Amino acid sequence: MEHRRLAGGSGGVPLRGGPMAMGQVGSRFRLIEVLGPEQALARLAQDVRAGLTATPKYLPCRYFYDDEGCRLFQAICELPEYYLTRTEQAILEAYVESILQPLPPSVVLIELGSGDARKTRVLLEALIRRQKSLLYVPIDISRTALVESAHRLLQAYPSLEVTAVAAEYDDGLPYIAEVAGDPPKLILWLGSSIGNFDPPEAVAFLRRVRQVLTPEDVFLVGMDLHKDRAVLEPAYDDPQGVTARFNRNLLVRINRELGGHFDVTAFRHRVVYDEVRRRIEMYLVSAWDQRVVIEALALEVLFAADEAIHTENSYKYTFEDIDAIAGAAGFRRVGQWLDDRRYFSVNLFRLTE
Ligand code: AVJ
Repeated sequence: MEHRRLAGGSGGVPLRGGPMAMGQVGSRFRLIEVLGPEQALARLAQDVRAGLTATPKYLPCRYFYDDEGCRLFQAICELPEYYLTRTEQAILEAYVESILQPLPPSVVLIELGSGDARKTRVLLEALIRRQKSLLYVPIDISRTALVESAHRLLQAYPSLEVTAVAAEYDDGLPYIAEVAGDPPKLILWLGSSIGNFDPPEAVAFLRRVRQVLTPEDVFLVGMDLHKDRAVLEPAYDDPQGVTARFNRNLLVRINRELGGHFDVTAFRHRVVYDEVRRRIEMYLVSAWDQRVVIEALALEVLFAADEAIHTENSYKYTFEDIDAIAGAAGFRRVGQWLDDRRYFSVNLFRLTE
């Protein structure tokens, strides 16, 4: 398979920490970058044009995760109101042995949307105890997050090898089988990232994941559970305004990368839980009538007062939803772990025969 860039070993991957750190970890690190910077920018331009000329207006949530967006998301994970990360982490810590128990003795670990890979450590450590060496293949849209997290992991675990794939999910999937090789795979998709997809899109994506799996592979998916809006809404609308900054950072990014002229203080952060569709919806709402020029698109966007840009959905699931989505995609659930409050679920799937 062709990819744009493959760097590693003595090839000189720019890991932070200088030449000393390079010597220790460089030979155990490879980075595959699927899109070049020009292609990534062209895609952003195309998606921003499509979203801001549509009615109603929207922007794809994957563009939250530039370097500043990754930092803001990490800050969200520390918020008392954002229970998702710490609840999932607690579930993984409490049940890691029973999660791994049905797995073959030696696996390759793949992770979709690994981010800073903080939650992955508990699984990495448990796998490293079970097998002599471990290949970890994180796939993430943020090259910075991948390189920095890989560096930290390689320093912490001498028997670890990392092949990182900087790509959107769809572009990254074809590399899984190629990079992982023959051993059985454990694929992680944590954090309820699946919740950004509408259910039909989630099913379609899971079907694509299914195509790179064999019957012995296992797929571990973190899915947030439906609950009272009094818990859900503050998790996405915190009193410190961190999530509001995360949301507005989309406009900051458009200003920087596409020559946008958004006055980001002229857009309010709005969050609602739709109890029928069971999804958190996030919007940026124009405070007044305004026109915004985006130079790289040669576009002028008109906003009425109170007009919204839909920036994210985050679905929350019932137990029936989980099995319905998995079943429709050709997966059967072989394990499920919850916290005491039943706020979050970690689900283990295998292919349906
Ligand atoms: C990373 C997609 C799981 O939907 O909860 C956090 C992103 N958005 N606060 C989520 C997010 C607003 C998060 N995911």
